[in-house]
Amino acid sequence: MGLLDGKKLLVTGVLTDGSIAFHVARLAQEQGAEVLLTSFGRQFRLTQAIARRLPVEAQVLQLDATSAEDLEALAGRVREAGFDHLDGVVHSIGFAPQSVMGGNFLAGEWDDVATALHVSAYSLKSLAVAAQPLLARGSAVVGLTFDARYAWPVYDWMGVAKAAFESTARYLARDLGPHGVRVNLVSAGPIRTTAAKSIPGFEAMEGGWPERAPLGWDVTDPEPTARAVAALLSDWFPATTGEIVHVDGGVHAMGL
Ligand SMILES: NC(=O)c1ccc[n+]([C@@H]2O[C@H](COP(=O)([O-])OP(=O)(O)OC[C@H]3O[C@@H](n4cnc5c(N)ncnc54)[C@H](O)[C@@H]3O)[C@@H](O)[C@H]2O)c1
Repeated sequence: MGLLDGKKLLVTGVLTDGSIAFHVARLAQEQGAEVLLTSFGRQFRLTQAIARRLPVEAQVLQLDATSAEDLEALAGRVREAGFDHLDGVVHSIGFAPQSVMGGNFLAGEWDDVATALHVSAYSLKSLAVAAQPLLARGSAVVGLTFDARYAWPVYDWMGVAKAAFESTARYLARDLGPHGVRVNLVSAGPIRTTAAKSIPGFEAMEGGWPERAPLGWDVTDPEPTARAVAALLSDWFPATTGEIVHVDGGVHAMGL
């Protein structure tokens, strides 16, 4: 029996087969779930090609998480794809213009900061609300963060966006809890995905992570993070919401 047997899931954020979301979708299918993916713009065809590498090819729906039109159409598109409800939604979306990362914190202009906040933080609320008509009692929304309690090298306004993202998850947990919907985040250590490599100087964020982690840490392995997402989507966290589970080899708990 699989951890996610019979569950219907919507997974955003598959760009390559290195994306955290790709591994979430793969594991979810292996654990018995049916999965729909989303993508948008020039990336759409790439996501379709990557979807063929999953154990079961997944349909890809159009969703730019900042498009009011796409968000309004989402529930209808999910139904057209044959899902009458959703048991889980994975938010694996992040973007900030390079001008507000890489050590440019003091020079960050509001328009670019606003883009980072819109795509990387507000989109969690947008996605959850767009999916809400389909979310059954006992369903789960799960997102990915990078520990926003700290100022990191080069992360800059993306770090601020993650702080807003984490707070958004807590408010969603408050407002969706009475509808039986859980909202939790996985705080992952650094993993060399496309989003990570687009941060100028990302190596500085890796900063000795494998050495500092009591359990060790492999910056090329998204599997531990994907497993935690799958666990939070499952029925094995029935009374947990507004939580952030650290999947970082233990670095968050260490001093030096
Ligand atoms: N890689 C890491 O080190 C790391 C660590 C902690 C958290 N995270 C988070 O994990 C999540 C997934 O990132 P990843 O590392 O797998 O990289 P990735 O580049 O594979 O995925 C990022 C995804 O965001 C999507 N996206 C960007 N703008 C969007 C929009 N307007 N609408 C819909 N989708 C949009 C992209 O299409 C892409 O699929 C992000 O939230 C990221 O911040 C990553």
